[in-house]
Amino acid sequence: MTQKEINIRYREFISPDELQEEDRILADAAVRATRNSYSPYSRFKVGAAIRLSNGEIIKGSNQENIAYPSGLCAERTAMFYAHAVFPDAAMEAIAIAAVKDGNLCGKPASPCGACRQVMAEYQKQSGIPMKIILVGAERTYVFDKVEDILPLIFDSL
Ligand code: THU
Repeated sequence: MTQKEINIRYREFISPDELQEEDRILADAAVRATRNSYSPYSRFKVGAAIRLSNGEIIKGSNQENIAYPSGLCAERTAMFYAHAVFPDAAMEAIAIAAVKDGNLCGKPASPCGACRQVMAEYQKQSGIPMKIILVGAERTYVFDKVEDILPLIFDSL
């Protein structure tokens, strides 16, 4: 038996204002995207914004349904839309923000496992690392690639 370790590096910022300009623009877009969240059941408004290699910024938000599992997270709403409209563009970065009771959450919302899996596939398909920016009022985290939030990815049969 060999004991193994997986180390994950990420950068922590106190405020999204400290991000480099193109990431700050994406973080702002994710916060604005929360306004279009349809979340009458959880009242948790999540926004995602994706920067594509063609320069487009695609926004999405969580869309809920009375049949709960029929709803979709903000991240997958944005990724599926991005790939449906611009199938040849790589997703260079995705920013995610969540608003509760009218305020940006202090601690950033972290994507669910299903969204991470979808990120992994689009990253692999494009061949370009997807940066992940988790935006919070008190802390913002930046990960350079999907492996950093989904180690031991399932990506082949
Ligand atoms: N949600 C997202 O949209 N993204 C996440 O990263 C976590 C959770 C949504 C799903 C549901 O509409 C609400 O937040 C509460 O779980």
